[in-house]
Amino acid sequence: MPASSQSNFLYGAAVRTPALITDHPYQELVARYCDLVVPEGELKWASVQAKRGVFNFDKADAVVDFAKRHGIGVRGHTLAWYAALPAWTKDMASRQEAERVLEQHIRTVVGRYAGTIRSWDVVNEPFPDDPRSSHDLRKSVWLEQIGREYIPLAFRIAHETDPAARLFINEYDIAFAGSRFKSKRDALLGLVRELVNNKVPIHGVGIQAHINADRQIDSVGLQEFLHAISSLGLEVIVTELDVIDFSLPADIQLRDALVAAKAYEFLDVVCGVAAPPAVLTWGITDKYTWVPIYFTRADKLPNRPLPFDRNMRPKPLYSVIEYFRYRGRR
Ligand code: G3I
Repeated sequence: MPASSQSNFLYGAAVRTPALITDHPYQELVARYCDLVVPEGELKWASVQAKRGVFNFDKADAVVDFAKRHGIGVRGHTLAWYAALPAWTKDMASRQEAERVLEQHIRTVVGRYAGTIRSWDVVNEPFPDDPRSSHDLRKSVWLEQIGREYIPLAFRIAHETDPAARLFINEYDIAFAGSRFKSKRDALLGLVRELVNNKVPIHGVGIQAHINADRQIDSVGLQEFLHAISSLGLEVIVTELDVIDFSLPADIQLRDALVAAKAYEFLDVVCGVAAPPAVLTWGITDKYTWVPIYFTRADKLPNRPLPFDRNMRPKPLYSVIEYFRYRGRR
């Protein structure tokens, strides 16, 4: 969905069931503020094809039906990833079998939502945390069984299944200063260039933007990366923005201000160079966030990574998103 004429980009968020069905203040928040939603887990293999060949779309349909009722767009996440795979995928024993399984999954899932889900994270997190090159791909059942060809294969099947869908590769740790983050930018750029040169149907790059508050943003490195992606004719979208605050001060007012400032620094670069048509946060309220799974605070205080607090009240981070959403428009 193109950004509306009044704003620079569509704002959206990852949402999760059953909260989207049972938590009415959460439902109202999503319906009021989101142009887009992406199921946080309901379109992952573990949810959709927990048993081989048995597809269950109940949870994904709940998100899609909610979105349809509220006139909200939907992004799909994700078709080929190393994680959230059901145990049976370890039993695939040959390249041919893995290709058949991957193709059946993509055709079934993308086909079901053709015309509804207009944008997909086809390949998620293809690189390890410190890639030596664009050929140094993260270990996964897909890489082991099919080789690096799993990446163009996934894009081609998704495009054949829904030629109108916008197809993205999605990665994290793209924005920071430091050699391993530059390595990831370089590797991702190299892979994307290879896909474009080989006429693979890729339309854009998703920058996840899980912004670790104690890491420095590499503004110059990020700008160079964004210019290079745009020069390939590809879109850039922000797919999973949140600010990981586990190392920030306990004081809520100060912490919220620092979270907002970090997001401002990041969005100032991205919106200045790439004009993303969509910016999504990975969750919308601190009540439902993945962050404490890996980044619990030493003082055990709840994390505050998202635009709205656990009582659905807007925080300074929301004001920052709104600023970039309407900058130059009013
Ligand atoms: O649904 C089961 C539930 O039945 C079970 O009782 C419970 C306890 O084991 O686990 C539940 O599944 C969890 C699932 O989230 C749904 O809540 C998984 O254990 C847990 O690993 C899973 O974590 C998700 C993670 O991706 C792995 O899929 C996070 O919520 C989700 O925020 C996170 O999202 C990722 C993006 O997909 C890719 N980018 C990074 C981002 C953050 O890690």
